Amino acid sequence: EMMKELSGLHVLESKLKDMLNLSEVIVVPGDSDQDVWVKNDMGKAAADRLKRQLSAKNIIAVTGGTTLASVAEMMTPIQKGQQLLFVPARGGLGEKVENQANTICSTMAQKANGEYRLLHLPDQLSKETYLSLMAEPGVKEVMELIHSAGIVLHGIGDAKTMAVRRNSNPSVLLKLEEEKAVAEAFGYYFDQQGEVVHRVRTIGLQLDELQNSDFIMAVAGGSSKSDAIAAFMKHGPKKVLITDEGAARQLLGNS
Ligand code: F6P
Repeated sequence: EMMKELSGLHVLESKLKDMLNLSEVIVVPGDSDQDVWVKNDMGKAAADRLKRQLSAKNIIAVTGGTTLASVAEMMTPIQKGQQLLFVPARGGLGEKVENQANTICSTMAQKANGEYRLLHLPDQLSKETYLSLMAEPGVKEVMELIHSAGIVLHGIGDAKTMAVRRNSNPSVLLKLEEEKAVAEAFGYYFDQQGEVVHRVRTIGLQLDELQNSDFIMAVAGGSSKSDAIAAFMKHGPKKVLITDEGAARQLLGNS
């Protein structure tokens, strides 16, 4: 806390909160684009903040990515008398196993002494497959849990970076370029105004269902993600953001 005071991080936090119309912002020192350990510090800050939010029974939906994987690594056991259930927010977004929402759920549950339920789905779903999977009892059950998640933890990515990381079709890459996509979260791609320009068809939490959760916390940093963070946050107010100084300074235009 004293270090934060001295380095002016609290000033960045409150400026960013106002600028992006958020309910809370936590900024950790450094830039995760430059130094890898900064991502772990964001992970720690997110895990600590999550702990303060917990009630007796909690259902937590999580997305994938390297940042959320860091959050998982930093989780610590919960208090006695608390129940935690982790579910993937969405299935099959084309990440490596270690960065998939399923893996992150199981790591979080293991570290926090909670439970988890998974969605086993292929990455590319045709409309027919999507509809028949949705009718599967096992999938339906997890879907109900996802829909009753009071807490959502998610990453935000740069649109192009994510599309390339997911080996998207050239036609998708072209579309994203034409539509000037800058951000990605939950399998949705957004332009600078926060409008959805493309989405990956997969089972799980849809963007308009986010508002049913009480506590939505994004964990995303690195100066290269500043446009993505700003665009995604236009999508709806009153969210919590855990970020780093690199992204914060870039966002506020004083890097
Ligand atoms: O693919 C899952 C996801 O959460 C995306 O929605 C997001 O853009 C990305 O991961 C963030 O990944 P990283 O934390 O590795 O930048």
